Amino acid sequence: MATNYWDYVRVEELLRLQGGLEDDESKVSDHEVVFIVVHQVFELWFKLALRELTTLRDLFNSSPVPENAIAGASASMDRLTRIFRAAVSHFEVVESLNTRDYLDFRDKLFPASGFQSAQMREMEIILGLPDDERIGMGAKEKYLDALKDPSGQSESPAHARVMARQQDTPTLLTAVGNWLHRTPIRGSQPDQAGDEAIVDGFLEDYVAAVRSSVDETLATVIAAGASDPEAMAKRYDAEVEQARTFFFCDDKRLRRIRAAVLFIESYRELPLLSWPRKIQAQLVEFEQSMIIFRQRHARMVERVIGRRIGTGGSSGVDYLDATALKYRVFKDLWAVRTFQIRADALPPIEDASPYEFNATFDA
Ligand code: HEM
Repeated sequence: MATNYWDYVRVEELLRLQGGLEDDESKVSDHEVVFIVVHQVFELWFKLALRELTTLRDLFNSSPVPENAIAGASASMDRLTRIFRAAVSHFEVVESLNTRDYLDFRDKLFPASGFQSAQMREMEIILGLPDDERIGMGAKEKYLDALKDPSGQSESPAHARVMARQQDTPTLLTAVGNWLHRTPIRGSQPDQAGDEAIVDGFLEDYVAAVRSSVDETLATVIAAGASDPEAMAKRYDAEVEQARTFFFCDDKRLRRIRAAVLFIESYRELPLLSWPRKIQAQLVEFEQSMIIFRQRHARMVERVIGRRIGTGGSSGVDYLDATALKYRVFKDLWAVRTFQIRADALPPIEDASPYEFNATFDA
């Protein structure tokens, strides 16, 4: 039988899903159907995002990561960011509801809330947001409790999904961390004798280059007429110390990962570092799109319901703003930006040959 659009896309099934609690669209207002549809569209975007995140995690979890898969990983990162940007634009549609439009049906939602979106939690979990960094209302026990069936009689599908995701390790953060950890730094790999000293040598040279760059900037700031040069000098000194503390952290695995992130950012023009550098940039870009999602959601919520308590019981906008500020997974990728310096101020790379393409072609 020839394929047709409606069977393939399952249009009829899809269009039967907007009847709300009444399961009858004729009993639901236009405003409420907008509210339901926008949530459904978001859940579909989340579904796609979770597929991409799982594929990426699996890829970076292989050792070695197949070289010919990196371009695909980059395309996947790009798609993830596009999904989030597209999703964020849908808040425009739901904020067409004014406060009273929403209040007309809001009471029937209690205690339901987007707070019970299992897929949102799944994304946070597979990315690697640690439970002990969740805040207040979002703390582990609270978000897991909110996903349970209120009758306590049966396991809810939302709770089951999140529990299964917690077992599905490692996180993308860990998998990417393992990949970065294996990065050759000054040609040295982690299992090689003397690797630790080579990595520390690179970091020492780098912090010295940061010192010189900071001194240069400070001289410029003072020449430009800084009102309190002494206070300014202290502030810049602290920045160098901050760099040292960050890179020379006690955790050896983390130290090598941070050094790798820095090495890749610093010598990104070398052919074999250009894909890793792109992946790093895309992880930050994706995380930024998620943060913007959280911020945009909070502004939409403030516009529609002001600062009242949410149907899920949180403080509402304050809670949402706090998540936008605090929920960060790829912290090291962001942090390294604070310590980057101009290309001409970098410690020179003595032997670039391990990072060149080595292919030879017959004439
Ligand atoms: C009029 C529309 C909306 C209002 C007034 C609203 C309000 C809220 C509030 C107040 C919270 C905090 C938890 C609570 O106390 O309930 C929340 C959480 C949440 N909402 Fe919305 N929301 C709206 C639409 C949406 C849409 C369209 C989505 C798309 C999926 C969404 C996704 C979420 C998510 C994922 C959370 C959990 C955030 C977290 O815990 O990090 N919301 N919402």
